[in-house]
Amino acid sequence: MSNPRKILVTSALPYANGPIHIGHMVEYIQTDIWARFQRLRGNEVLYVCADDTHGTAIMLRAQKEGRSELDVIAESSQSHQRDFAGFGISFDHYGSTHSDENRELCGQVWQKIRESGLVKEKQVEQLFDTEKGTFLADRFVKGTCPKCGKTDQAGDNCECGHTYSPVDLIDPLSTISGTTPEVRSANHLFIELEQLHEFLNEWTQSGDHLQTEVANYLKGHFLGDALRDWDISRPAPYFGFEIPDSPGDYWYVWFDAPIGYIASTKQWCDANDSNIDAWWKSDDTEIHHFIGKDIVYFHTLFWPGVLKATGFNLPTKVHVHGFLTVDGKKMAKRDGTFIKAETCLKHLDPSALRYFYASKLGPKLDDIDLNLEEFRTKVDTDLVNKIVNLASRCAKFLGPTGLSDTYPDDGGLFQQAADDADEIAGAYEDCDYNKAMRLILAAADRANPFIENAQPWVLKKDESKARELQDVCTIAINLFRQLVIYLAPVLPELVTKTEDLLGDKITSWDQAQSPLLGTPVNKFKHMMKRIDPKDIQKMMDETAEEVAADAAASAASELASKYNDSPQPLIDKPISEECTIDDFVKVDLRVARVLQAQHVEGADKLLQLTLGLGGNEKRNVFAGIKSAYKPEDLEGKLVVMVANLKPRKMRFGLSEGMVCAAGAGGSEIFVLSPDDGALPGQRVT
Ligand code: 2FM
Ligand code: ZN
Repeated sequence: MSNPRKILVTSALPYANGPIHIGHMVEYIQTDIWARFQRLRGNEVLYVCADDTHGTAIMLRAQKEGRSELDVIAESSQSHQRDFAGFGISFDHYGSTHSDENRELCGQVWQKIRESGLVKEKQVEQLFDTEKGTFLADRFVKGTCPKCGKTDQAGDNCECGHTYSPVDLIDPLSTISGTTPEVRSANHLFIELEQLHEFLNEWTQSGDHLQTEVANYLKGHFLGDALRDWDISRPAPYFGFEIPDSPGDYWYVWFDAPIGYIASTKQWCDANDSNIDAWWKSDDTEIHHFIGKDIVYFHTLFWPGVLKATGFNLPTKVHVHGFLTVDGKKMAKRDGTFIKAETCLKHLDPSALRYFYASKLGPKLDDIDLNLEEFRTKVDTDLVNKIVNLASRCAKFLGPTGLSDTYPDDGGLFQQAADDADEIAGAYEDCDYNKAMRLILAAADRANPFIENAQPWVLKKDESKARELQDVCTIAINLFRQLVIYLAPVLPELVTKTEDLLGDKITSWDQAQSPLLGTPVNKFKHMMKRIDPKDIQKMMDETAEEVAADAAASAASELASKYNDSPQPLIDKPISEECTIDDFVKVDLRVARVLQAQHVEGADKLLQLTLGLGGNEKRNVFAGIKSAYKPEDLEGKLVVMVANLKPRKMRFGLSEGMVCAAGAGGSEIFVLSPDDGALPGQRVT
């Protein structure tokens, strides 16, 4: 093999403010397959990623949940990494954009950009939420469209197709506080991308850095005109890094996020005795970014611009993929297709999704569809029936003898599949996994009839055919192993199980060129099972439940933020020691109607109440509520009384119970009053 390549591989950094879902997994699986393929080819691969932690969304979420941003991002990072591990994503390092390394690198990059004269300042008018004390990003504003007058429209575009700035909205409202924001002006820092126009034209339109569609899209949408200045600062409060030479301003999340690729590499280098320059400043290293089509602008104009201006290497290639649809439709919470990675892992074998995505992914930007029925039948047919079956039908017959010492005549099957190696490798290299899977399956389709004709299960019954049986099974197992090697980038778990079965590690693509001979075969253990439609149903049901629970929780927190209740009452009077239901029912609370209320001679705090419990049942109660109620306000009102309180003799007469009320005292006493419809005498439980 030619000299090994040195390849840095990245997937886009997922936002820390949400869970990983099966749409994200398209990219991580696509990248992981490519990274594993390159490793199998003997190349040196460093696959890094990180959580993308900064921005307003995290800040608001932390506020809403009453905890620190650090707490929120630590929890996200853990759950993201757990999900990625569940799907076998083989990151060499997983970092965070909120790291010392990233802060430092951002500072260095910034200084270089300043020195290159690319930074300019401009005043920007933005809506400001005075209650929350923050500027509002477009998505946190709604209002009436200035063009067509439709109400309740998004901050930057209307259903009528009109786009605008949120400051142009009629009757704008902040979606985080429900209040009317005001227009405020602030100083922002911009990178003048136009200065790099010529370079970006050249870089995007020549060489093999981009897929043709991407290059054409950039040419058609951006490069034909002057490139817009890129607003990379946000005024405080903002969760991010403060700009060292512009106190009170923070780098916009999209400035520090891609620098996170370098920071994550640096963290790996520091832990592994390597040097960051060997990955980001060396001519010997390739850099491959994998991203979705929604973030092309950032990775193919802004990011190369920054890299160029700061002396880091440019990406060798930015690989762009399409979106995931589920049963033909865009993933949507309301359709119950927003399936979280965690939920998927609970019910399905991750290998199944890895294989399905691989079979759908091509080198272009087309969306891929997860049709759940197709998914089930494809995994069953291809992986279980055509591949794993080769081993499961034959391995057991090799237990006593092991593999034959010389490779028997298989009519050229092994050689034919060995000859496919370069074409399959080429397909992986080009991210044409669909083609790779088709070639591999074609080999499986040639292998299966061989076994069906040879019928090892019949040979087994005739002792005189023992040698023939061993040969047939040696062929079957070797054809199987060859397929597993080709599928290794996609199905790492199948690799491990095959290694256990044959006692031989799969570490190189070239192992598909020569059969394994003369070695023992271990007891066959289950490798992959058919997908039970019930498991798919469970995954969908659980997703629907999660969506309902999320909707209820967000409605509750929307209301909580509308009322903005203070935590003070609980702080002033913490909840009492736990009691049992038996303790509680000892107190007999009843609905009562205030039939009469009057002042009490000589008492400044008391009102005398006659409470009716229905029929002729009446109670006389002295209540200390005079500072807050006039007698006439109370008459006719329903209240809640402690009806079995031991009567207490007072200076003014006998008090036969207590009225329940809340409040701080003085004018702030609030008698508990059931809605009309409750009946006097009814027990309160
Ligand atoms: O679109 C996203 O999900 C971003 N968090 C991707 C960032 S990729 C890189 F630039 F950091
Ligand atoms: Zn409109």
